[in-house]
Amino acid sequence: MAITIKSEREIVLMRQAGKIVATVLAQLVEAVRPGLKTKELDVIAEREIRLMGGVPSFKGYHGYPASVCVSINDEIVHGIPGERVIQTGDIVSLDLGAIYQGFQGDAARTIGVGALSLQAEALMQATQGALQAGIQMARRGNHLGDISAAVQRYTESKGFAVVREYTGHGIGREMHEEPLIPNFGSPGTGPLLKKGMTLAIEPMLNAGDWRTRLGSNKWTVSTIDGSLSAHFENTVLITNGDAEVLTVV
Ligand code: MF3
Ligand code: CO
Repeated sequence: MAITIKSEREIVLMRQAGKIVATVLAQLVEAVRPGLKTKELDVIAEREIRLMGGVPSFKGYHGYPASVCVSINDEIVHGIPGERVIQTGDIVSLDLGAIYQGFQGDAARTIGVGALSLQAEALMQATQGALQAGIQMARRGNHLGDISAAVQRYTESKGFAVVREYTGHGIGREMHEEPLIPNFGSPGTGPLLKKGMTLAIEPMLNAGDWRTRLGSNKWTVSTIDGSLSAHFENTVLITNGDAEVLTVV
């Protein structure tokens, strides 16, 4: 499907979808503690999305069985909530999506549990910084490659690696729309950004090798070398000025 430009009415609904995602994600962040089973986060996620009038977008997506992805330590994305117990020292990536009246929001945060290694702290900070660097380039008249290049440059300046096999994406009525938004690339390449486009920008950074492996459950993606990974994502709207971040409370 071609890249879509959202109307004012569609933008209102995208804002509400984004608000639901951001609000529930904040609740999940607050709930994370040592001893919690990851499936307990899924219960909260689905209940709170529905309480706000939304529908979980991940549940049933290509058969994905839950409303949130919980990916711990060397897990990059698409961890399935279950019996795993969160431990002190873990870094926990939470990825959440919701649909509100036909429109999608998608966001992710990585949080630390208790005292962390210096490397884990630096990785999480760099991933947040990489997302910020990408969002700063998400401007009308820039090219998509300007976002990708900014994320890559920032990441590599911090000594980390960007995951290449998974990307950000356009978002709207569908969770995944054109264009793909790689976290690496060259400035001045790719489609021009236009006012009214909505994008999910989502750097995934590894402390070691950028390569990934798929777990035996066919969902969980981990680093190939067992190194730590972090993930931050926001859904943003291209405007006449700075991008508007839609997945904020
Ligand atoms: N939120 C993820 C993304 O950013 C997709 C989740 S995959 C699902 O694109 F299967 F869990 F839905
Ligand atoms: Co996404």
